[in-house]
Amino acid sequence: MISLHHGNILDITCDVIVNAANSSLMGGGGVDGAIHRAAGPELKEACKPLAPCPTGEVRVTDGFRIEGRLIFHTVGPIWRGGQEGEAELLAACYRHCLDELVARELRSIAFPAISTGAYGFPVNEAAGIAVRACRAMAERHPVSITLTAFDAANANALAAALDT
Ligand code: APR
Repeated sequence: MISLHHGNILDITCDVIVNAANSSLMGGGGVDGAIHRAAGPELKEACKPLAPCPTGEVRVTDGFRIEGRLIFHTVGPIWRGGQEGEAELLAACYRHCLDELVARELRSIAFPAISTGAYGFPVNEAAGIAVRACRAMAERHPVSITLTAFDAANANALAAALDT
């Protein structure tokens, strides 16, 4: 099952929240900043031994003050015009997070629109990649996936991608 949530990823009840991190895993702006603030300083300590995280990969931590949820930290590609493997790397972020969810026998996961903020990935293309990766997993496993849109552009792009 794949659903769309318009709003803050921190409001979603699920097993796993995905963070759109950078390779240092030391926090930043956007959703990364919001997750670090909500989880508390223990999160940064937990991330230290897991860094650096290469683009497209995932690292797992506890949610600390984000109770009852694990955090999957993934690093999306920076958009450099589309000819530098950005689409494949973004798909890898979703795939690796979903593989990790299933490997841990967890059921529900919430994604932000990885790379579509500071990293500049075009929202329509990113939404198509997200939905394709999620459908590929949801066809094989009984997972519940929430795609989060924090802004109207992502909400429209994800709704259109889910509609096709
Ligand atoms: N809940 C859900 N989505 C959010 C939230 C939130 N609380 N805050 C921001 N977003 C959305 C943004 O609107 C955007 O669509 O998350 C999407 C991803 O944007 P960024 O957080 O900027 O992430 P990204 O584009 O992957 O850039 C990563 O930004 O803050 C830094 O440390 C981070 O360097 C890394 C870079």
